[in-house]
Amino acid sequence: MLGRLIDTALDRSVVGGYTRLGYLIRSRAWEPGQLPSMAGRTVLVTGASGGLGLAAAEGFAALGARLLLVVRDAQRGERSRELIEQRTGNPQLQVELCDLSSLQSVRALVARLQARDQQLDVLVNNAGVLPRARTLSADGFELAFATNVLGPFLLTNLLIPVLQRSPDPRIINVSSGGMYTQRLRVDDLESERGSFDGAAVYARTKRAQVVLTQLWAARLAGTGVVVHAMHPGWADTPGVRESLPRFHRLTAPLLRTPQQGADTIVWLGAAAPPRASSGGFWHDRRRRPTHLLPGTRESAAQRERLWEECCRRSGWHEQFQEQPGQER
Ligand SMILES: NC(=O)c1ccc[n+]([C@@H]2O[C@H](COP(=O)([O-])OP(=O)(O)OC[C@H]3O[C@@H](n4cnc5c(N)ncnc54)[C@H](OP(=O)(O)O)[C@@H]3O)[C@@H](O)[C@H]2O)c1
Repeated sequence: MLGRLIDTALDRSVVGGYTRLGYLIRSRAWEPGQLPSMAGRTVLVTGASGGLGLAAAEGFAALGARLLLVVRDAQRGERSRELIEQRTGNPQLQVELCDLSSLQSVRALVARLQARDQQLDVLVNNAGVLPRARTLSADGFELAFATNVLGPFLLTNLLIPVLQRSPDPRIINVSSGGMYTQRLRVDDLESERGSFDGAAVYARTKRAQVVLTQLWAARLAGTGVVVHAMHPGWADTPGVRESLPRFHRLTAPLLRTPQQGADTIVWLGAAAPPRASSGGFWHDRRRRPTHLLPGTRESAAQRERLWEECCRRSGWHEQFQEQPGQER
């Protein structure tokens, strides 16, 4: 009981919970010993070229999983592959190229996986960006929305039939604690109105990921596929250094290591408890509220509208069973 109170106090204090302090205090209460072996299971991690994606992939590889390292740059992907093999001794690592901000690139990746009848047990949607200025993807969508929401929406929906062949399929969406500050804005998903505030726009895409997680959980109920969102706290990664240099300078001594930030990703993919529920928002191995601030709640209609808009913009439709390589 005291443990839970301290944990919640850390969480609400933000700095206490999100920094390495929170991780160090909470991890003392966790069951000692290893997570279950993941031998024979295949995990796809997007954004595996560095930061949390690399750390999560390494964590899964250390448990014996086969890894699909999804990256947009072949050289950085190869560097990750070599590094993970060196550190874990696990050679079952395959680099897959995909630009998550391009719907065509997402479709091409799925077509390659389907063509070779790829086994897939865990999908980790980790790749993310925080553009400082309003930028458009190759498809003409605002870049944070394209990379953090639309690409993963299409990737996930196209891969669900593949995941359903697994005896224990899991989807993990890497969101951010920053999403607490924003509400869902279905009327302006691509931030066309007002001035562009990169951090707020990013946080809105992270809110959308959490809402999509809940919508997937409802749609996938009874299928065996569980879906979770998580936030890593504040971890020292290339992304934080480059996108938030001032924040990085101020918080550097307190930031988590990428491994500490990625711990809950690996736990959600490997441990037994996350199989027992779906649609949750997790941090440091515990389910967390999805709203803390007034005015950030969305209605059921707004949630459904997000789904419809993602379908419309990505060209993916629920009733339509897409075939390998099929373009729409
Ligand atoms: N670090 C934190 O404190 C923190 C806090 C909250 C949430 N998060 C979330 O955690 C996730 C990982 O963040 P991070 O801190 O590790 O960031 P990072 O160091 O910038 O890593 C982001 C990864 O995403 C990849 N990526 C970006 N755009 C892509 C695209 N269009 N296609 C394919 N891959 C793409 C990057 O590839 P390149 O190497 O090619 O750029 C990189 O591998 C993100 O979703 C972020 O929002 C992080």
